Amino acid sequence: MNWDALKSHHRARGACRILDLFQDQGRAADFSVRACDMLFDYSKTDIDVRARDLLVQLADASGLAERRAAMFCGQRINETEDRAVLHTALRNPDGDALVDGEPVAPGVRDTLDRMARFSDDLRIGRIRAPGGGRYSDVVNIGIGGSDLGPAMAVGALAPYTDRLRCHFVSNVDGAHIHDITRGLNPAATLVIVASKTFTTIETMTNAATARDWIAAKVGADLAGGHFVALSSSLTKTAQFGIDETRVFGFEDWVGGRYSMWGPIGLGLMLAIGAGNFRDFLAGAAAMDAHFCSAEGARNMPLMLALVGIWHNQICGHATRAVLPYDQRLARLPAYLQQLEMESNGKRVAMDGQDLPCHSGPVVWGEPGTNGQHAFYQLIHQGTRMVPCEFMVAREGHEPDLAHQHRLLVANCLAQSEALLRGRSLDQARERIAGRYDGDELERQARHRVFPGNRPSTTLVYPKLTPRMLGQIIALYEHRVFAEGVILGINSFDQWGVELGKELAVALAPLLTGEATAEAKDGSTRQLLDYLTSKD
Ligand code: F6P
Repeated sequence: MNWDALKSHHRARGACRILDLFQDQGRAADFSVRACDMLFDYSKTDIDVRARDLLVQLADASGLAERRAAMFCGQRINETEDRAVLHTALRNPDGDALVDGEPVAPGVRDTLDRMARFSDDLRIGRIRAPGGGRYSDVVNIGIGGSDLGPAMAVGALAPYTDRLRCHFVSNVDGAHIHDITRGLNPAATLVIVASKTFTTIETMTNAATARDWIAAKVGADLAGGHFVALSSSLTKTAQFGIDETRVFGFEDWVGGRYSMWGPIGLGLMLAIGAGNFRDFLAGAAAMDAHFCSAEGARNMPLMLALVGIWHNQICGHATRAVLPYDQRLARLPAYLQQLEMESNGKRVAMDGQDLPCHSGPVVWGEPGTNGQHAFYQLIHQGTRMVPCEFMVAREGHEPDLAHQHRLLVANCLAQSEALLRGRSLDQARERIAGRYDGDELERQARHRVFPGNRPSTTLVYPKLTPRMLGQIIALYEHRVFAEGVILGINSFDQWGVELGKELAVALAPLLTGEATAEAKDGSTRQLLDYLTSKD
């Protein structure tokens, strides 16, 4: 019903110039949300009052409030894996969530305290490498949710990193671990093996390579002492030979891509210190509280979700670009790709039926201003519409370079203004009238037209502190959750990654000649032939 109303409102309204909507002097403030010191401005979209009312009604009718309450209190809302979804409990050590009638907070507090003690001791050199020297470097080996979150956050919070250098290895491509370890001293390196399942082939392969690398320098007896494990499977960490005092476990109610708030965040904690890590958690908790209490259009994650739904489902825009004007958020688009696309890239609804609409959109992006000199051409003049999500801080971390920050901000605002206003054919002609005339003027001018009327949103925040990063990530998590509930998707499973993994295991022996490729399709056989031939 609400979907139909939204679609007919969109159709009935026909072509709408976003710029015209600003005749309403109050539009910018009215079509913005302020929360937790941040401002989310979605006034440069074609959402009007009626569309927003219908979108909020859509959310209400989807049962979002009930689903949100069920998530926060520990119900098994991940129905296809029969699991609770409680990453929010990791940032609320005093919370009252229960799983199977048991409070989870005491375990969360214990693990956080253990992590903090370990981190403090390692950072000040009280915990030393088995050979007696201090650790200088940490290598986190993990992939997907066991890599992207901490890797993104360590980059984002570079001004807060000290004492230890933190590196990340994820790809099974040996080039990755080779290049990361090349400049490191194995005797002064701590290896974190981060894997919820402790079965992921990329991670286990890299972990074995790292063990050999360390053993070659310090000897097999001491190598184990260089390892720490972060996992839900204590049996498997023991099989790998990691002492239980060096294992930080977490429960199955923490999904991989939602796991950086607990043990999977150890690399981040080692890099920025436990105090800053707790601030990071506090920021996320503040956003949780906002998400649970703010009503309708005043709820920032909800409005982020509804703007996304408007663009993806109602306007039919298949992708969205995330464009942080913050170099330190360079890995945010990759992080959000997993968060959003692994969560909401599903074609079957919760009830097992085909989804009656599209799944979540393709998410992509790069930091500005770099992207401006690469793909913004398509965003401004391409035939497809790409809703853009800009982000920028009011203040940078480099007071001496405030003039550069001003330029960064100017570029961010210029892009959303350009997308909004565009440049008409008349304006284009006027600019080049002295250089061309007649048909050539017309031809040249047409290339210089910017259609404008392209939607964008802008999220602004005071400064990229640990607390602010926590807020931003939790904001996006809840956006994904809200979109998933409204679309009827289970945002917490990921069955779509399984088939490729199984086939890779079956294909490996074909590359060594241990099995034959007869059953494979012609293309795969041809590729195998090429890849295994000597000439
Ligand atoms: O293959 C996808 C996935 O299962 C992700 O969901 C997860 O974050 C990643 O692999 C890593 O899994 P693990 O932490 O169990 O190694």
